[in-house]
Amino acid sequence: METKVVILDLDNLDRTAIEDAGKVIRNGGLVAFPTETVYGLGANALDDIAVKKIFLAKGRPQDNPLIVHIADFNIEYLTTEIPEIAKRLMEKFWPGPLTLILKKSQIIPDTTSAGLNTIGIRMPSNIVARELIKAAGVPIAAPSANVSGRPSPTEVSRCIEDLEGKIEYILGGEKCDVGLESTIVDCTVEPPCVLRPGGITLEMLREVNSEIYIDPAIMKKPVGDFKPKAPGMKYRHYAPKAPLKIVQGDLQKTIAKINEIVQNYIDENKTVGIMATDETVNFYKNGIVRSLGSRNDISNIGKNLFEVLRGFDDLGVDIIISEAFEEIDFGVAVMNRLKKSAGYDIINV
Ligand code: TXA
Ligand code: MG
Repeated sequence: METKVVILDLDNLDRTAIEDAGKVIRNGGLVAFPTETVYGLGANALDDIAVKKIFLAKGRPQDNPLIVHIADFNIEYLTTEIPEIAKRLMEKFWPGPLTLILKKSQIIPDTTSAGLNTIGIRMPSNIVARELIKAAGVPIAAPSANVSGRPSPTEVSRCIEDLEGKIEYILGGEKCDVGLESTIVDCTVEPPCVLRPGGITLEMLREVNSEIYIDPAIMKKPVGDFKPKAPGMKYRHYAPKAPLKIVQGDLQKTIAKINEIVQNYIDENKTVGIMATDETVNFYKNGIVRSLGSRNDISNIGKNLFEVLRGFDDLGVDIIISEAFEEIDFGVAVMNRLKKSAGYDIINV
């Protein structure tokens, strides 16, 4: 299949391209498009056959439900019940990086919800995403636009790398602002539960309801029945090709430990990538060092994380070692993705 790629100028949106891409969605095809979190791979959420194509293009497990993206607050037809707390969260955080899990209506095919009786709904703030949804005239089911298991794309070049030839259209915008997938809050339980941390932090959610909590299973390695509630959170995920290890603890000790590990690998003729920060980058003597940004700006670290992982894939390093971050505010989302990328291989110092 020939994939049409159009990079949009955000100051002067190409209406024809957006209308064309909207038509592709309406007619049952697939379009990759930017959102403020990561790039999405969209299909008509109400079209069972179109949604199946997403699973095929990504190589995604069938039991992993999709998020439905909408551009206006009229969501009554998608759900059977909108609890008061969901209304308050929508008012405060939509449009933006927040997905709400609600009871689904009959209009949503089982393929979209992977057979669950609930559905994730999100209103993105990204202008291209919103215009595309409006042009399509239907809600858009969209997982991240990567081949299943790989780090999510935050730049259009990565969508092209993973999906060219497999889908009809790729719309490009600028680098994704948040860089990590949306926060998911299950509003079908009382109190609501965070199934995936993201740009809307627990602290922000608790301003609306102080009882909201994070699913305790998502920050630890899944064992036995102690499994995350969001089906997608149980897979090894966001993973670079090379194995990734995290060194966690005091920063001076972290640097010493990473230098020691790197030396051991170099002695075995291995190439090592180091995920450092602006504050530490000069303390690593060997290996290929990349900074995720300043420790004083955790938002920027989250924004760069997936692209730095993909960059190490490009270089074909044998192993990647990363520093850790404090698990507060947006750092919870950053550490969640980092730990999953590492398959929970963490060295404490
Ligand atoms: O930021 C985002 O949410 C991006 C952009 C494209 O909008 N999308 C995204 O989709 O991250 P995806 O498919 O990569 O991740 C969806 C996650 C999975 O972990 C899935 O299991 C969970 O949401 N999920 C979807 N529907 C659910 C439901 N009804 N109940 C529990 N978890 C659900
Ligand atoms: Mg994904």
